[in-house]
Amino acid sequence: MNPEKIKEDFPIFEERPKLTYLDNAATSQKPRQVIEAVAEFYSRNNSNTGRGLYKLANDASQAYEESRKTIAEFINAEKKEIVFVRNTTEAQNLLASTLKFEGDIVLSEMAHHSEQLPWRRKAKNENKEIDYLHTSNGKISLENVKEKINEDTGLVAISHISNVFGAENPVKKIVEIAHEHDALVVLDCAQSAPHIPINVKQLKADFITFSGHKMMGPTGIGVLYGRKALLEDMKPYQVGGGMVGSVTKNNVKYSKPPHKFEAGTQNIAGAIGLEAAVNYLQDLGLEKVKTHDKQVSQKIRENLNKIEEVELLSPNSSILVSFKVRGAHPHDVAEILGQNQVAVRAGNHCAQPLHEELDMNGTVRASPYAYNTESDAEKLAEAVKEAAKLFN
Ligand SMILES: Cc1ncc(COP(=O)(O)O)c(C=O)c1O
Repeated sequence: MNPEKIKEDFPIFEERPKLTYLDNAATSQKPRQVIEAVAEFYSRNNSNTGRGLYKLANDASQAYEESRKTIAEFINAEKKEIVFVRNTTEAQNLLASTLKFEGDIVLSEMAHHSEQLPWRRKAKNENKEIDYLHTSNGKISLENVKEKINEDTGLVAISHISNVFGAENPVKKIVEIAHEHDALVVLDCAQSAPHIPINVKQLKADFITFSGHKMMGPTGIGVLYGRKALLEDMKPYQVGGGMVGSVTKNNVKYSKPPHKFEAGTQNIAGAIGLEAAVNYLQDLGLEKVKTHDKQVSQKIRENLNKIEEVELLSPNSSILVSFKVRGAHPHDVAEILGQNQVAVRAGNHCAQPLHEELDMNGTVRASPYAYNTESDAEKLAEAVKEAAKLFN
């Protein structure tokens, strides 16, 4: 991995050469290959999919379905198991709105609002109980999982990697435990799919969800993976054009998955852009990306550790680094960093219940990706030093 060389593929860094972009957990930058794939689709192949009978329409449909195939292979799934959605949030809402199961719901305290609120609403509407897995040292602990998942559990929805702490949860084991109790498992891979290889056959989760924009793809495109048999049993989320086999005045026959879940004109260019992003990541090699991102995070930790006023919150080997600066509100720290052209996120990161539980008023989060260098870690530390001085 040569991050300096990788950076050359990202036009934004040419536009803004002084930018130190460490807000990848919010959204990643886009390589030229993705931008060009989207532009090329609109310039050469633009048409609606699954409808027209002329060559241009066939080419567009084929390109859209090829993208689905590439994404299926990326996570070792079958093409039919990949539903295109707008983002993780929509995937989680689709599941919570349409999935039928007996029993209660287990979530985690660390859950992002997008993987928490859809299930909370479902629980309220269907009189289901919710229990929460605790966070210990930035992760879900297996002891706690064994306590909370039992014969009353119908579904477990958790993050593969927390967007606050950046640590990988023991999801394979959690899936095993949930399945021993016949509970379904929904894995939110919004923070893992960009950084580590995902293999659905190994993870054995029933559903996984992720967003294209966090993995170098365009905004407005995301993925719901569901086991084929489960998707077949589910009712559609939205109804309309493009998801029906036949419609009479009295009867509707829906298409099979995945098209059953893709009502209306889809984000065709988005899917094509996401395919380009997946190809780009595969060319880099996701194992290498993971190692690199962890190394930069480690460098960030080492540098910040030397600053007396800093309290590190992410455990070792996390993919991103959350921290606090004594005497300073996280928003103020982020603003000082911003003045130094260092982009980070500050606040509760859409995980307010977690912050409440841990009695934190927010954190500052630095999240690196393939194009970040050790020098970015140093620039961050310099700017944090300035903020620490100002507030102490
Ligand atoms: C763990 C996690 N889940 C879900 C989401 C929601 O993603 P999106 O806004 O792309 O729907 C995010 C976004 O930050 C996230 O980090």
